[in-house]
Amino acid sequence: MDDTDASDGAGYVDAATIALRFASVELGPSQETGVVTVPGEDTVTPRQLRDVMGCLVTGVCVVTAVADGEDVAMTVNSVTSVSLDPPLVLVCVARTARFHRAVTESTTWGLSILDGDAVEVSTRFSRPGRPRGGEFEALAHHRGAVTGVALVDGSCAYLECRTEVVHPGGDHSIVVGRVLSATHSAASERPLVYHRGAYRWLR
Ligand SMILES: Cc1cc2nc3c(=O)[nH]c(=O)nc-3n(C[C@H](O)[C@H](O)[C@H](O)COP(=O)(O)O)c2cc1C
Repeated sequence: MDDTDASDGAGYVDAATIALRFASVELGPSQETGVVTVPGEDTVTPRQLRDVMGCLVTGVCVVTAVADGEDVAMTVNSVTSVSLDPPLVLVCVARTARFHRAVTESTTWGLSILDGDAVEVSTRFSRPGRPRGGEFEALAHHRGAVTGVALVDGSCAYLECRTEVVHPGGDHSIVVGRVLSATHSAASERPLVYHRGAYRWLR
């Protein structure tokens, strides 16, 4: 793991700002150092949970769907493989996210597992209050062969899914999708990585 976080490179300042904003929209500034203790199940705060779960290294994805004829996309890292047979994956979507309505109205959606060069893509699709419509303008993309959803060119891998079931999950919904297509690029060995509110890269 590269120990350089997103705030170290001038080119990534904006991404770091956005990442920290995501992490702290309602929770205050991120706790970047120090030991976080979790005293008991009734006293765990959102901030503590965010700081602890931020220690879990993830990739970064863009999830896409179509609503009212418009592409709707957002950056996510709560993606998990659920089952191989049948092929199922899940993503947790905030109930307040615009994508929540899109994915509950549309039956199909896509996932682009971002390459290490795609920090700006992640930033684009996680910026709160970004203009609606034209989300993929000036962004190299292609359409999934099965569903037609927009997928980000140059990504490590792609999935197209049909929603199997949506479970309640507190302030998120757990969207389980049956995988309709799955492809990956043999060339990509440098995925975008997210850890403790910062973008990182594998050596
Ligand atoms: C690295 C990263 C991972 C994220 N993962 C999730 C996620 O798994 N689920 C989620 O609901 N929001 C996630 N977000 C936050 C959304 O991308 C962000 O709130 C976005 O602006 C929501 O889209 P909207 O503004 O169109 O509602 C993540 C943000 C970042 C930077």
